Amino acid sequence: MKIIAIFSSKGGVGKTATAVNLAYVAALGGCSTLLCDMDSQGAASYYFRIRPKKKFNDKKFLRGDINGYIRGTDFDKLDLLPAHFSFRHLDIELAKLGKKGKVPVLRSVFLPVADDYDVVFLDCPPNLTLLAEHIVRAADIVVTPVIPTTLSILALKQLLKLLSELKLDQNKIRAFFSMVERRKNLHVSTIEQYRKYPIFVKTAIPFLAEIEKMGINRQPVGATARNSSAALAYERLWQEIWQRS
Ligand SMILES: Nc1ncnc2c1ncn2[C@@H]1O[C@H](COP(=O)(O)OP(=O)(O)O)[C@@H](O)[C@H]1O
Ligand SMILES: [Mg+2]
Repeated sequence: MKIIAIFSSKGGVGKTATAVNLAYVAALGGCSTLLCDMDSQGAASYYFRIRPKKKFNDKKFLRGDINGYIRGTDFDKLDLLPAHFSFRHLDIELAKLGKKGKVPVLRSVFLPVADDYDVVFLDCPPNLTLLAEHIVRAADIVVTPVIPTTLSILALKQLLKLLSELKLDQNKIRAFFSMVERRKNLHVSTIEQYRKYPIFVKTAIPFLAEIEKMGINRQPVGATARNSSAALAYERLWQEIWQRS
């Protein structure tokens, strides 16, 4: 079981769109896949039209009591653990456990289902706090979408700093350019400046109306239009990330 976190400290960079579409193409390619929605806003769950059971909560999640709360999706080999509203307290809960000397290990949350899945995707909330530390420790790979603009690059630098502070291997990061608009000079020049760094994979995800429309279609782009440029871009991104893992 590989844990792949889709992480950025910045909101609105395409984390959820990436998590949903990569999970879809991974499952389509034959991997048993679990998408874990860790953002209490529940956007990934919304895209799959799935709501969590009322009885689920942040405490159960951190205890690894997840088996009864995983739901099937409309797609083969793809399951979802929907976010519960209480996940907004994950940071506080982690801090409380730490104070009691019971430091939880996020990776162990998924041990009960380790034999069931080849890949677990984490759709992460935007933050750089304790939860972020647990996420980057738990993940084998940290996929981080970077809009080719100043603040998104800043978020990437902060992620690198976080890993170095925690003495974690920066090789687990796979950055990619997200929501790219070639007609914007800033996008073109930022890509030019940063793409030489090996933490960037080659595939970029363009800004495409089909991806924006996921909110209306409530499906991964590949399920709506298999051969659309958006679907093909996510397939390429997945191939590149999986091959390098
Ligand atoms: N490549 C893209 N092209 C066009 N719109 C996108 C793209 N990626 C994401 N979006 C849209 O941008 C908004 C923010 O994306 P989202 O994936 O929710 O970001 P995050 O999870 O990082 O907050 C959403 O409305 C989403 O549909
Ligand atoms: Mg999101």
